[in-house]
Parts: sequence; structure tokens; C-alpha cells
Amino acid sequence: MFSYGGVRQHLLADDQFEKLQQMVLDSAGIVLAESSRRSLLDYISLRMYQLGLASFDAYRKRLEGSNTELLRLIDAATQSYATFCHHKEHFRFITNTMLPELARNPEQRLRLWSVGCSTGEEPYSLAMVASEVLPGVEEWDIEITATDHDSGALTTARQGIYPLSQVRHLPARHLLRWFRSLRIGNDEYVQISPALQRMVSYRRSNLLAQWPVTRPQDAILCHETLVYFDMPKRAYIIDRLADTLRPGGYLFVGQSDRVEAYSDRFEPLGDSIYRRSQ
Ligand SMILES: C[S@@+](CC[C@H](N)C(=O)[O-])C[C@H]1O[C@@H](n2cnc3c(N)ncnc32)[C@H](O)[C@@H]1O
Repeated sequence: MFSYGGVRQHLLADDQFEKLQQMVLDSAGIVLAESSRRSLLDYISLRMYQLGLASFDAYRKRLEGSNTELLRLIDAATQSYATFCHHKEHFRFITNTMLPELARNPEQRLRLWSVGCSTGEEPYSLAMVASEVLPGVEEWDIEITATDHDSGALTTARQGIYPLSQVRHLPARHLLRWFRSLRIGNDEYVQISPALQRMVSYRRSNLLAQWPVTRPQDAILCHETLVYFDMPKRAYIIDRLADTLRPGGYLFVGQSDRVEAYSDRFEPLGDSIYRRSQ
């Protein structure tokens, strides 16, 4: 059990929240909404624990001295937390269609890649549903690769500690099987089970440089990541993703990513799900 007393109750009083608002406004021109205060509280509480900081002032000094730390805070404030099994339609398809189809593979081999995995919720969700759906999963040769270029996010991903609020919506049987509860100060967190952690390999990788994934993948999840690139780079990445999938393999992208606008190598299946056709 972790113990990290005295952090949470001092966090984000009105004047502290105003200071953060001012810093984010000055550096990024973004106005932090009052509605983001609760999720910021969760984020900062966990971040202070990870950095070993005991007071809000120490955290604020860290923000002042580190642009990377400030960018992390802005990311946390502007993107809602990536949540477990977040892309519900996609996880429904993976659970009900894709994995039962792959379960018939006599080689019992599964290769999945979570691109732009951020803090790890998506690859752990994949490990969770694969463990639930594939019969005799212990016998399978499974590689779930998760990549991102943000080494800080990958550190959080490897630790696998998340605020309880992020997993509350999961069915109780998932919670009991795949998480253990933790208390940090007054706050409740969960840590992902070692069995799931062992199924995921995290690698730092820039999508515009060499890729660590070479073997043909059964599926690639690339959510909310293509938006970071201009159109020519998107086309280049989508073509490389096609090369990395086996024929018939699945590509899952964000709602606004129209893969067919960049490549004719995929058959659209609806709901931002594609299948490699050539
Ligand atoms: C909004 S997050 C998406 C998280 C997750 N896929 C989801 O949908 O919840 C986008 C991620 O893409 C990563 N990213 C941005 N540019 C990248 C690049 N050039 N190479 C690798 N990852 C990148 C960011 O670090 C960030 O973690």
C-alpha cells in the first residue's frame, strides 16, 4: 500500500487554480474551464506522487522550470483522460467480432499494436479483453505492443496506476479480476494486474522515424494520434500502417480520421474501423 499523506486536501484552492489558469493562458492561450478542476485535481495529485513532491508550491515551481511538465499539464487539462475501453464501438467489435474470428487461428498467435498509447489504458484494455475472450489464453503467443514518443506518458503506462474514477464504469467482474486498489493520501487509485502488465510491451517511438513493430499485426489501434500530423504525413503513416498489418488485419482510428481519403488499401467497415484489403 502506498502512503502519501497530506497532498490532496491542500490542492487547487481557488487561488491555486487561478495561478494554473494564468500559467496555461500565458503559455498556450488556453482558458482552463472550471469544469476541468476535478480532473486536474486527480492528475496533479498523481503527478506529485510520481515526482515525489510534497506541496502544491513545489509542483508549481516544477511547472515554471520545465516546459515539458507544463505541456503535460496542458494535455491533461485539454484532453479528457483516456479511459479504459474508451472507444466503446471499437471494443465491442474487438470483443464480439475480431477476437472470436482470430480465436479460430490454429497457430494461436495474436499481434496487436496500440499506436500513440499515451498512459497505457488502451493496450491494457486490449490485454483485458483478449484474456477474457480467447479460450485457453495462457497457451497463446500474444504480443501487444504499445508505442508513444512521450517517455513521461510511457513511465505512467508501465506503472499502470490510475485514479479509481477512471475505471468505475467497468463491470465489477473486470475490476475485481484485473485491478488492485491503492490509496495515495486521501485518494483512491487502482493498479493494473501483473498478468496484464506482462502482456504489454511499451516502446518509445516516433511515428515519423523507425518503427519498432515489424511482424505483421492482426490489428492496429491508432486513436486520436493522426490529428498531430499534416495531410502528407498522415498519408505516409497510413500507408506504413497498411504495410505493418497482415492482409485482412484491422485498423481502428479516431472518428474524424477518414482513412479512405488517404489510401485505397483499406475497406471501410463503418464506425472508423477498416480492414486491410491490399
Ligand atoms: C490524444 S493521445 C491518444 C491516446 C490514445 N490513443 C487514446 O485514444 O486514448 C495522442 C498520443 O499521440 C502521441 N504522439 C503525438 N505525436 C507522436 C509522434 N510523432 N510519434 C509517436 N507518438 C506521437 C502523443 O504523445 C499522445 O500520447
